[in-house]
Amino acid sequence: MSASIQRPSEPATPPVHVAIIMDGNGRWAAARHLPRVAGHREGARAVRRTIEAAMECGVSWLTLYAFSSENWRRPATEVLDLTGLLRHYLKTEIEELKTAGVRLRFIGNRDRFDADIQADLVAAERDSARNGRLNLTVALSYGAREEIAAAARAAAEAIVDGRLTPEQLDESIFARFLSTAGMPDPDLIIRTSGEQRLSNFLLWQSAYAELVFLDVLWPDFGRSHFEAALSDYGRRERRFGARPA
Ligand code: IPE
Ligand code: IPE
Ligand code: MG
Repeated sequence: MSASIQRPSEPATPPVHVAIIMDGNGRWAAARHLPRVAGHREGARAVRRTIEAAMECGVSWLTLYAFSSENWRRPATEVLDLTGLLRHYLKTEIEELKTAGVRLRFIGNRDRFDADIQADLVAAERDSARNGRLNLTVALSYGAREEIAAAARAAAEAIVDGRLTPEQLDESIFARFLSTAGMPDPDLIIRTSGEQRLSNFLLWQSAYAELVFLDVLWPDFGRSHFEAALSDYGRRERRFGARPA
């Protein structure tokens, strides 16, 4: 039996899919007596750092929770700031991501965004579809319960249409109706800001994800935090319900 030799500092096999709940922009701004939008803007810089870190660490799937279904309930001014920033970044950042070999996907209920944003989302997905260095999925207007209800509705329609029988509808068939169809489940979910909850993120897909909660506010998140989460993940023993080895 050959044991693999690893330096203690060397990360074990990286997770295939890392998903991040990017939280704490508002608190970051409040601590500096700045408007919340300044925190969201700074948060976008952390996104760039994280994408680079993921590529350098050999992570091939990265999913970022940017805006939840419930975030529409925030004051209209903040929603306007957030959609304004989204519109801006879709115009300015996508080219660079495409050049870097990033394939973009968006999950969530995009019908709620203005038509021009919806068109930019479609174009970004289409124009990056041949890239494969990093699969970057951004959850926008995303809520897991809404996603699961939509999947149940689509499966019911398939049954009514005769494309599916109730007996065929098992876990793997059901997963094909989710917005994450074809994606691997997240191995690691990171949440920043010290909160320890999922806030309606990837509830189906996270069944066996390892969870890492970090006490850093999202705008301060960088490569060292990403690597710390990966090495924490590397120390976990994943069992998937089976008897420990
Ligand atoms: C995360 O930061 C960004 C979004 C949810 C859009 P928050 O805006 O939730 O910041 P906090 O949690 O209030 O500090
Ligand atoms: C979760 O953060 C959603 C995103 C990070 C996009 P929230 O700030 O909306 O979550 P709660 O309200 O603290 O649970
Ligand atoms: Mg928050």
